[in-house]
Amino acid sequence: MYHRTMWVRHLGLLHLGLLIVALAACGDDGSGTPIDAASGDSGTIINGCLSLSAPQANPGDPIDGDTFATAIAPIFQSRCTRCHSTTLSGAARNGAPLGFNWDDEASVRQHLAEIRNAIGVLNFMPPSDPRPTCDERRRVVRWIDADAP
Ligand code: HEC
Repeated sequence: MYHRTMWVRHLGLLHLGLLIVALAACGDDGSGTPIDAASGDSGTIINGCLSLSAPQANPGDPIDGDTFATAIAPIFQSRCTRCHSTTLSGAARNGAPLGFNWDDEASVRQHLAEIRNAIGVLNFMPPSDPRPTCDERRRVVRWIDADAP
């Protein structure tokens, strides 16, 4: 499925790379650089939220007790499963690829890297509202980086 949106995404990555080079070259005085309210991190905003390319946790970190069942499944239920669900087929999936079902923990675990990229780094998912808040994006990324407890 290498189509136009993939090219757009790759262009986005290229821009991100150039921006990081530019920021590094300008030094770290922070002027004009977006700051994430929750973490105090500065960085690049993509689609309204900080692009979380850096790790948000270490494997095994306690991450406030978050688990798939308690913290992540509810976010996916409210933001993703109107397209990415085992209960949907055909046009009802709104184009979400078959087998990418976020009400199925096994499917989530098979696609952790893609999910991290899609909602935490390039922030192109979901394609329409309601979208996750920036804090929800960070929480999912932190869970993935902690090794998905
Ligand atoms: C309105 C429907 C819709 C919603 C809601 C939605 N998606 Fe998607 N998703 C799609 C479509 C369409 C594609 C395939 C096209 C693409 O990859 O952009 C896709 C593809 C993906 C992919 C594969 C991307 C890749 O690497 O090619 C991931 C991962 C993903 N979605 C994660 C999510 C997550 C996580 C959520 C919720 C936070 C979500 N999506 C919400 C429609 C949706």
